[in-house]
Amino acid sequence: MSAPDLLDWKGRTGPFTIEVNPGVFAPTHTSRTIAEALEIQPGDTVIDVGSGSGVLSFVAANLGARHVYGVDLSQASVAVATRNAERLGVDDRVEFRVGNLLEPVRSIQADVIIGDVSGIPDEIAAVSGWFPEGHAGGPTGAELPAAMLESIRENGCLRPGGRLYLPTGTIQAENSILEVARRIFGAANLQSLLEREFPLPDVVASSKAVARMMKEGILHLHARGSRLLWRLQVWRCEMPAVSDRALTTS
Ligand SMILES: C[S@@+](CC[C@H](N)C(=O)[O-])C[C@H]1O[C@@H](n2cnc3c(N)ncnc32)[C@H](O)[C@@H]1O
Repeated sequence: MSAPDLLDWKGRTGPFTIEVNPGVFAPTHTSRTIAEALEIQPGDTVIDVGSGSGVLSFVAANLGARHVYGVDLSQASVAVATRNAERLGVDDRVEFRVGNLLEPVRSIQADVIIGDVSGIPDEIAAVSGWFPEGHAGGPTGAELPAAMLESIRENGCLRPGGRLYLPTGTIQAENSILEVARRIFGAANLQSLLEREFPLPDVVASSKAVARMMKEGILHLHARGSRLLWRLQVWRCEMPAVSDRALTTS
């Protein structure tokens, strides 16, 4: 058996070493930015949906979470994340489940959900190579994150007052995601915590898909010199009390 590919995480609560084999999403600038934005109280129960290698679950555990449930549609990711939990000695409080969105954790009421499912438009994901198993965000990159928001509502996985940490960006139909988030959480309960700009890799920036989606007004990238930049935002969405929720979802 060949040795696993290892990655030194130097983001929040690092350094620590995790396995990321070629079939699993490797942590990126987005992972680092979400990690920076996370607010975990000691004893929190956390769900990390779209957990990949498990990196954000480990950050949450290091920040004091009592129990972390990671969920990913990719069986390979869950296998790697489970090995990573053992490697880091946190497998007594960090566990991973295979499945779609919040379905595998429907019996859990979390204080915090980290909602980092794929949000890159399918065609762009295909040229980028970021999603080795091909689970991307849908035609505009908004479809899967929007389905995740609905899954949180339908499965009742976030307690009233609980917080969802949600990344959105100008590399997807961002407003469609925010519209769903405002309907479920209420506009007053969404707060932008962090904003960062990143250059698009050349292979993505020069793709026909990016040119077409910019023309169609789906993507809102801007140029600096010869580079195309996209902007990432991380939002805190606070779940209103049930009595207030009726007003926001009607
Ligand atoms: C952008 S990656 C993030 C991984 C990890 N949070 C990180 O920062 O490295 C998104 C993850 O969502 C997973 N995913 C895609 N569709 C999913 C679904 N329907 N349910 C659960 N996870 C899904 C992918 O397999 C991938 O691991």
